Amino acid sequence: DLPTRVRIHEVGARDGLQNEKATVPTEVKAHFIRRLAEAGLTTIEATSFVHPKWVPQLADAEQLFPMVDDLPVALPVLVPNERGLDRALALGARRVAVFASATESFAKANLNRTVDEALAMFEPVVTRAKAADVHVRGYLSMCFGDPWEGEVPIPQVVRVCRALLDMGCDELSLGDTIGVATPGHVVALLAALDEAGVAPSALGVHFHDTYGQALSNTLAALQQGVTTVDASAGGLGGCPYAKSATGNLATEDLVWMLRGLGIDTGIDLGRLVATSTWMAAHLGRPSPSRTVRALSHE
Ligand code: HMG
Ligand code: MG
Repeated sequence: DLPTRVRIHEVGARDGLQNEKATVPTEVKAHFIRRLAEAGLTTIEATSFVHPKWVPQLADAEQLFPMVDDLPVALPVLVPNERGLDRALALGARRVAVFASATESFAKANLNRTVDEALAMFEPVVTRAKAADVHVRGYLSMCFGDPWEGEVPIPQVVRVCRALLDMGCDELSLGDTIGVATPGHVVALLAALDEAGVAPSALGVHFHDTYGQALSNTLAALQQGVTTVDASAGGLGGCPYAKSATGNLATEDLVWMLRGLGIDTGIDLGRLVATSTWMAAHLGRPSPSRTVRALSHE
């Protein structure tokens, strides 16, 4: 059975642009987010309040957020710690996301912490955000494979998911940071989570398309009852702290599949493709999305 509606959590402006070599001007980012909203996306991850030395590309978060916060869409932002939460709350952010790791290697590389130290860092963030009535998403990276540790054992993933939910996260996003997942693995993880009391309704899926599996994995997750899917306009993306992480599932590829399945997203695919084509021209290379390429040549 497939859901009748899917909520797309657009991550291009954050997961996409955090990894660009060239600095994208703040005005271009703001215009990008505005055009994504005009194309019908309703949840647009805007930026990260992380250490500017760790992710220089998003060091303009304080300038960018006020340029887009009039939009009638949800604008989640990443916050790794209380310092990040303070910065986000000071600007009136209503949705934040903490980001954990299922593996020790990536927790160290991305957060300079062990898995449990990172969870301890998030605890006061989640508690304070909830007290301020702010929605909290909990990302979990390396849910399938890790570039240093190889295949990630399912119980290890389930443990951190439970910890994030028990802490008070409103939803989780299961990250295949390096894009190695395949549909059977997705079904097995979702089944194990269900058994541990984590219903698909509390989950989003976050696939990277490194091995061309992102869309198949998404379909498998939808068949298991997941209704929130992360995607990145034009397939922008990667992660600066995970070698071999390439672009996210392209929002256009996702919308094309959902449209064919009769699943409503409310997105104007033509406007979205035009937005990604414009951004690709700005970045100086074509979008890797097959749907963007097909539709922009029509
Ligand atoms: P640290 O070096 O351990 O920091 O980094 P610290 O806690 O020791 O603090 C050191 C200094 O940084 C202090 O300043 C803090 O105030 C300052 P000092 O007192 O020395 O002057 N500081 C900050 N400044 C601004 N904003 C902050 C902040 N925090 C501390 N928020 C830290 C720890 C978490 C800060 C660092 O590791 C970090 O910023 N990491 C972010 C990495 C990142 O953003 N990665 C990409 C996002 S995750 C991802 O892409 C995966 C995902 O897409 C899902 C998937 O695909 O799997 C979500
Ligand atoms: Mg990602």
